[in-house]
Amino acid sequence: MTEQDTRPGPSRRTLLGWGGAGLALGAAVAGGTAAALDLGGEDAGPAAAGGDAVPFHGVHQAGIATPVQDRLHFAAFDVTTTDRAKLIALLKEWTAAAAAMTAGREVGTGAVGDNDELPPDDTGEALGLKPSRLTLTFGIGPGLFEKDGKDRFGLKSRRPEALVDLPPFPGDNLDPARSGGDLCVQACADDPQVAVHAIRNLARIAMGRAAVRWSQLGFGKTSSTTPDAQTPRNMLGFKDGTRNIAGTETDRLDKHVWVGEKDGPAWMAGGSYVVTRRIRMHIETWDRTSLKEQEDVFGRTKAEGAPIGKQREHDEPNLKAMKPDAHVRLAHPDSNSGATILRRGYSFTDGTDGLGRLDAGLFFIAYQRDVRDGFIPVQTRLSRSDALNEYIQHVGSAVFAVPPGVRDKDDWWGRALFA
Ligand code: HEM
Repeated sequence: MTEQDTRPGPSRRTLLGWGGAGLALGAAVAGGTAAALDLGGEDAGPAAAGGDAVPFHGVHQAGIATPVQDRLHFAAFDVTTTDRAKLIALLKEWTAAAAAMTAGREVGTGAVGDNDELPPDDTGEALGLKPSRLTLTFGIGPGLFEKDGKDRFGLKSRRPEALVDLPPFPGDNLDPARSGGDLCVQACADDPQVAVHAIRNLARIAMGRAAVRWSQLGFGKTSSTTPDAQTPRNMLGFKDGTRNIAGTETDRLDKHVWVGEKDGPAWMAGGSYVVTRRIRMHIETWDRTSLKEQEDVFGRTKAEGAPIGKQREHDEPNLKAMKPDAHVRLAHPDSNSGATILRRGYSFTDGTDGLGRLDAGLFFIAYQRDVRDGFIPVQTRLSRSDALNEYIQHVGSAVFAVPPGVRDKDDWWGRALFA
């Protein structure tokens, strides 16, 4: 089954009504990825027809190597409480809500609840909608370990070495209001309302303990983790995600994406690190650029997406045939001592800016085993020499440690960190 499969699945209401059967249906994952991910727990099982619910429980969090959905709502949170017990309570409540929503169930006692004197537990806008392959992926930013010189939660000594603060790169124009964060949740779904509903409900649960610092909506996935699917195009009109790590390439995932047992710290084994960058595109300038120049900028053809000098999209690139400053040539592992990342970004268009220009670009998301061997070397090279720099600017940035998967219903996001 491919991720384009759109056979109808059960609605959230139906799943609720089926009770436990709903959880079994939550086992659906496209293309045999469930086996590749070695999923365990109550919602694991054979892939269901329709592929519209992705298991929440497993060795790794879903939303990294699982097939990319069409829509994104990514949110970064500032933790506002200084009470460790309250933070832990929040993470437990978030986990329970996330398990419910990804299975297509309502949060808590639901959208109409059992007491009409109280606000309902669930905000309701996802009622009647399918699970839509919703995945919720949780991460922890540097600020949870130490903020303004304070070890707020007694976690300072547990900060992973690989969770480095990103260095400044040439050309960065970062807006602090769109950068950083103590916690993050990446919500991906095939229905934007399902993704927005998930973040809204998590933000609501967090009230008094954590507040949204920034969030980003995205559409038209700009990368694929399923190589047999058609490669999507980014806002510059080029196929994006041709060469990426596929969700089925377990060897490459182990080598470049998942934190190994010996990497340390132990609480991160099976996790990953995510870098996000809001990259604004100067669309109007790009649209006045010749096709030849556009193809030279990437080192690939626009229509087919073939490497310069080759015929087909998936032909092996000859880097030397590309201009020395071509994006693909500079980003390729061979130009960066083997550095390899899993890209999972989305396009964004937030209307127009005050000057009538499209406020559009790429919300870049990259997962890797160690930021120092992944994003940093690649971006160091790109920021210095990439021909694409004339047409883009990085305006937001964040980095998070993404713990391993939630194993079962007694486990919760980040449990091993607090053990
Ligand atoms: C708006 C900004 C960007 C655009 C429009 C863009 C677009 C593209 C396109 C069209 C390709 C070729 C197709 C493919 O293999 O996916 C590509 C490849 C790639 N890009 Fe980007 N990219 C951007 C930013 C970045 C950044 C910030 C990084 C990492 C720091 C990055 C890393 C890569 C890598 C690793 C490849 C694959 C190279 C290979 O192995 O052939 N890109 N990008």
